[in-house]
Formats: sequence, C-alpha cells, structure tokens
Amino acid sequence: MISEIKDLIKSTVNPVSGKPESEENRVKDIFESEGDIVIKYDREGLSPSQKRVFEDNILSSVKDKVPADKISFSSISKDSGDVYKSLKSSDDDGPKKETSKPVENATLNVGHGKPAPKKEVPNVKKVIAVASGKGGVGKSTVSVNLALSLKKLNKKVGLLDADIYGPSLPILLGKRDEKPKANDQKKIIPLEAHGLRFMSFGLFIKEGEPVIWRGPMLGGVLNQFLFDVDWGELDYLIIDLPPGTGDVQLSMIQSVSVDGSIIVSTPQDVALLDAIKGFNMFTQVKTPVLGMVENMSSFICSECGASHDIFGNGGVKTEVEKLETNLLGQVPLDIKLRKGSDEGKPYMAFNFDEGDEVSKSYMAIAKNVDKILFESKKDKKGFFGKFFGK
Ligand SMILES: Nc1ncnc2c1ncn2[C@@H]1O[C@H](COP(=O)(O)OP(=O)(O)OP(=O)(O)O)[C@@H](O)[C@H]1O
Ligand SMILES: [Mg+2]
Repeated sequence: MISEIKDLIKSTVNPVSGKPESEENRVKDIFESEGDIVIKYDREGLSPSQKRVFEDNILSSVKDKVPADKISFSSISKDSGDVYKSLKSSDDDGPKKETSKPVENATLNVGHGKPAPKKEVPNVKKVIAVASGKGGVGKSTVSVNLALSLKKLNKKVGLLDADIYGPSLPILLGKRDEKPKANDQKKIIPLEAHGLRFMSFGLFIKEGEPVIWRGPMLGGVLNQFLFDVDWGELDYLIIDLPPGTGDVQLSMIQSVSVDGSIIVSTPQDVALLDAIKGFNMFTQVKTPVLGMVENMSSFICSECGASHDIFGNGGVKTEVEKLETNLLGQVPLDIKLRKGSDEGKPYMAFNFDEGDEVSKSYMAIAKNVDKILFESKKDKKGFFGKFFGK
C-alpha cells in the first residue's frame, strides 16, 4: 500500500517550481498510524496557499487508492521542526486524577476533516458555548469567570478553549507551560486549574507559532477535544469560541449538541452589530441562545467613585429586548479583571468578594444560566419556549 502511494505521488507537482515530486523529493516519509496514512513532507519555501495546493495535488493523485479523509499531512521545515510532532514530556507529571492515569504524552491527529455525527459529550450534563461577533470583547474572560462562578454554586465545570487560532486559556488560568498527558485508553487528560478542568490547543503549540489551517482540519481537532478528552463527570462544559461566525463555530455546531450559547458584547454599536450576527447564526442552526452578557458595561473610578460609560450605555439591554432574548448580566470594566487574566489569577478565584460589583455580576450570570438551563427542562414554554417550539 505505502509503496503504491509513493509511486502515485511521484507525478505530484510542486506549485512553486512546477517540478514533479520525482525530482523534488519533498515527501520524506509515508506511514500508517491508527488506520490513517500520514504523509510527512518538507514545506520549506511553500506559502500556506501553496502548501494547500501541494496537499490537494497529492490527495488527487492517490484518490483512487486512498480516500482523502484517511490521509493526514505532517509538514516539516528546517527552522520550526515538525508542527504536528508528538509532544515532549514536561518535568511536571500533570494533575493527578483518580480515574485516569497518565501513561504517555498526548498527541493531536490533524487530519483532512472526518465529519462526525452530532454527539453528546459523555458524562457532561450541559454544554455551553461562549461566543461573540467581534474579537476582544471579553469572551475568554467571561468563560473563565463564569466557570469559576458556577463552581461557587457547587457545580463541576470544564473549560474548552476552542480558539484554535488564538488560544488564551493557558495564560488566563496560569498554566502556560504545562503539557497534557494521555491515559492508557489514549484519552487526553484535561489539566486542572483553580478547581476547573480545562483543555486548550495552546497547550500543544509553541507560543507565538502561527496556526495555518483550513476548516476541515479544525473540525478534527475540535472533535478530539470534545470526545477524546477524559472530561470525567461534569455539570457544565464551557466552550470558549474564537470571534465571529466561521469554521470553528460551524464545526462545533455540527459535531456536538450545545445546550445553550452565550453572546458577549460591549455596549458600543460596532460590537453590538456583530453580536447580532452571532445571535442570528445560532438561531439559524437551531442552537438555543441563553442570552447576552454586556461586558465592560461601565467603569467605576476608584478615585472619584463616579461611574463612566466608556463604551456607551444600555446598548445590549435594548438589543436583547429586540431579539427577545435574555440579558444574563452586565460586567463592569475593572482593571483587576484585566490584571488577574494577565497574571493567570482569574478574578473570581482570587478577588471574589460578595459585595463588589464584578463578583455580584458574575454570580448573577451564573445563577441566570443555571436557572435557564435547568428550568427549561421543567418548563419548555418558559424562558426558552422560543427555541424549543412553543
Ligand atoms: N470587564 C473587563 N474589565 C477589564 N478588562 C477586561 C474586561 N473584560 C475583558 N477584559 C480584558 O480585555 C481584553 C480582551 O478580553 P478577552 O481576551 O477575554 O476577549 P476575547 O473576546 O476572548 O478576545 P478574542 O476575540 O481575542 O478571543 C483582555 O485583556 C481582558 O483582560
Ligand atoms: Mg478569547
């Protein structure tokens, strides 16, 4: 089989030089791994779009022998090494869990998109996706602090960083140097931070290394994070999405049943316009929207005590009324929230104080989410009637 593939790709043309593979010898290795064929090649001098053409050429040369979804590519270059190589073990043995013992380093299978049917994540009661139309409005900050607030309500919570292009949870949770392990069933063991389980693509790549993938490959990794991570028993799995309405959102919606999404927005018009697109995307694909969170909603000056509406006022409240959804809460702009995130010491784990505005707002969001999700089961015509067919 391997030698037949080798013969077939000899005529594959390098899009830069126009020369066939038989002259270029870019392909360094072809091997089988867990039923897939892995083709390892030298990507030196190829731009991302040329890599894509090169890989597509290979796929079409071998298509009569092997279907595209059975082929994975691993590209190597002189300076950065192999992006998809197995992970080096860290000095730390990682979090200890009673149920699954680490036996080997976890690896990611980056394939050419294996469409999977929509599934439930085993042992996870509710899956929540945190989304926004626009970048930088606070999705990751909301995901982490909402997770910690749900934990304060005695819930078991996991966090999945689905922002493949700009993963930030390892930094926000203070675990940027840790590497995940796999157990004896080859399941990835989530890391633990501040009482939360979490998994992030950022734990598998070097910081600062760009991720240049197309849609179907993202789907493969997302599936692995949802179904090949040993999440254990959870009340909530919170998925921190990248901004916008792109490939990752679509892959997620196609592969997992999401119980509810939360749209984060700042009160300003530009962010709101994009937030509405996010809202409409979820409703179009029949994924319930739990409501919106207005982040950076006001700034209370510690010097003069006055409240300043830096990004405007009331924008999200007006919008949720128009969209007939819920305002889950309004989180003030607070420098301690930003500092806590940068230092890996999230606010609700390190600065929680029942009386302060940030803590109150997050606890209110957690209670609203919990109430909506569990009440909706009892009363499908209540808050959620709109999405469950009244
Ligand atoms: N309420 C807040 N008060 C102060 N700073 C905040 C607040 N919310 C978020 N931030 C800060 O704003 C910045 C962007 O937040 P965050 O990374 O959570 O946004 P994001 O929507 O996840 O961004 P991206 O789209 O890049 O994933 C961070 O520096 C964060 O610490
Ligand atoms: Mg983010």
